Amino acid sequence: MHIALGITGCIAAYKAASIVRELQKRGVTKITPIMTSSAQKLITPLTFEALTNQRAITDQWSPPESREITHISLARSVDALLVAPVTANTIGKFANGIADDFLSTFFMAIEKPVVIAPAMNKEMWSKEAVQKNLDILRERGVHIVDPDSGYLACGEVGAGRLAEIKKIVDTLFDILKPEKILLGKKIVITAGPTREAIDPVRYLSNPSTGKMGYAIAEQAVAMGADVTLISGPVEISPPNDIKMIPVVTALEMNDAVEKSIVGADALIMTAAVADFRPASIATGKIKKDKMPREIKLERNPDILLSLKDNKNIIKVGFAAETENIEGNAKKKLESKGLDMIIANDVSEPGSGFGSDTNRVIMISKKNESESLEMMSKKDVAIVILKKLAGLLL
Ligand code: CTP
Repeated sequence: MHIALGITGCIAAYKAASIVRELQKRGVTKITPIMTSSAQKLITPLTFEALTNQRAITDQWSPPESREITHISLARSVDALLVAPVTANTIGKFANGIADDFLSTFFMAIEKPVVIAPAMNKEMWSKEAVQKNLDILRERGVHIVDPDSGYLACGEVGAGRLAEIKKIVDTLFDILKPEKILLGKKIVITAGPTREAIDPVRYLSNPSTGKMGYAIAEQAVAMGADVTLISGPVEISPPNDIKMIPVVTALEMNDAVEKSIVGADALIMTAAVADFRPASIATGKIKKDKMPREIKLERNPDILLSLKDNKNIIKVGFAAETENIEGNAKKKLESKGLDMIIANDVSEPGSGFGSDTNRVIMISKKNESESLEMMSKKDVAIVILKKLAGLLL
């Protein structure tokens, strides 16, 4: 999970360091700190950089460290924005469409959940302007963790103290908890490449890394599904709470799919199955001077095609294309008798094998197609699974 943590110029800014720790304790793997210039007068960016191991974003105009550090690409890659503490000033900017620093510009660009935890003096907190701005934000879907009452930094007692860290983080996690829309559904997912041996040290394969299939498996579990993941050889670790079946060849994958789909509700084939295998595998290593210049190939079974007449499960295929993306994908959808196909242009930067993002077109059997913008593979997984949940109703 990747959280953008906004820190604004309130004396409670030092508490944001403990928020970082709490987020990490609860499994957030990446935190990008965004500090306003006032926040930097109270606590240094170094504190957050040391805690998060990420460069803190402190200025809208400094050259980006990487392409990811722009308000638009960051807005796409994070799961949520948490601003804690948030001042009356930043609340005012968020509510009134002012974008004059990185945080307020980022707020405009983000279409993910936003949680803010105000902290200020009790008179400021009770001001009509502040409360009206909060009403506007609430109405627009921003989640507000109201401040507690108690001893304030100004020496007074009243409402305005930053809410307890646990309450702030609990609110964020409640919002991010996916709905269990796949509860009780049995889903078989294939991922990664297959390897087709030539001899004990050589094989035919492709550059699939399994990232898309593993992201779908992880999100399907989070949505309550009972997941079997059949994976070719990949470098990533499997998500928790799934049944994992490692395979190497297309024949092994075919066998595992046949067995696993008995009683299943859906099959999602993200695997890049090798269409051919060497007709024979040498038992010993072929010395280079003995290596034939041509290798005879045999067709591997087309796993999806062989299930064309199986109407008991919903079948989702993937089409990795380099041209006529939608047209080619539609042909595969029809010829393989699929309920849905997810097509992508593997030659487009950010959309190919191994990338963390993907731009896909989802095509249903009714020929309805939906082009999604470039997004993280996790978000693509969520969109696909929501669509699948609709098909499983
Ligand atoms: N697939 C399969 N068995 C194979 C090859 C592919 O089940 N032997 C599945 C893939 O997992 C994917 C879909 O079929 O979900 C489309 O795969 P792709 O290789 O793109 O399509 P092909 O039909 O092999 O077409 P081509 O190679 O001509 O593009």
